[in-house]
Amino acid sequence: MAKLPIINVPDPMLKTLSDPVGQVDDDLRRLMDNMLETMYDAPGIGLAAIQVAVPKRVIVLDTEGDEETGRKPVFLVNPEITWESEEFSVYNEGCLSVPEHYAEVERPATVKVKYFDYHGQQHEELMEGLQATCVQHEIDHLNGVVFIDYLSKLKRNMIIKKVRKATKDAMIL
Ligand code: NI
Repeated sequence: MAKLPIINVPDPMLKTLSDPVGQVDDDLRRLMDNMLETMYDAPGIGLAAIQVAVPKRVIVLDTEGDEETGRKPVFLVNPEITWESEEFSVYNEGCLSVPEHYAEVERPATVKVKYFDYHGQQHEELMEGLQATCVQHEIDHLNGVVFIDYLSKLKRNMIIKKVRKATKDAMIL
């Protein structure tokens, strides 16, 4: 496994509409393994392929952890929301492509998601709580949407300016 570089706003790649995956093969599994390592290392609870500059409809999540290992990864290929609750919930969201900035975003509290897993098996699953918010945030990435797009233009531009400056400063060091 290898750690991949994560791109930050305002990289125009983050606005890309990612392409559906044709087949879950070893190359794709290698990408998913690398994405997972990158996500755990960051650390984060979700990552979309476009955040490592790969425009494919692939996301990895781990919002629950496991009692023994602390890890419970979920791989989603070509994820699609097939149902969403009328009830909403609000989380203070962050994003590995918008380092150190957080904002409250309102989204459906429960969603049903259809996807292919690490082995190419199809699932349709109800997700709720943090996992529901996370999967919606990551599917947004596949459609070129970042959580700051839900904020006012003023707030969004302020965050982008700060991230750009921090990224620039980091390169000097
Ligand atoms: Ni994100």
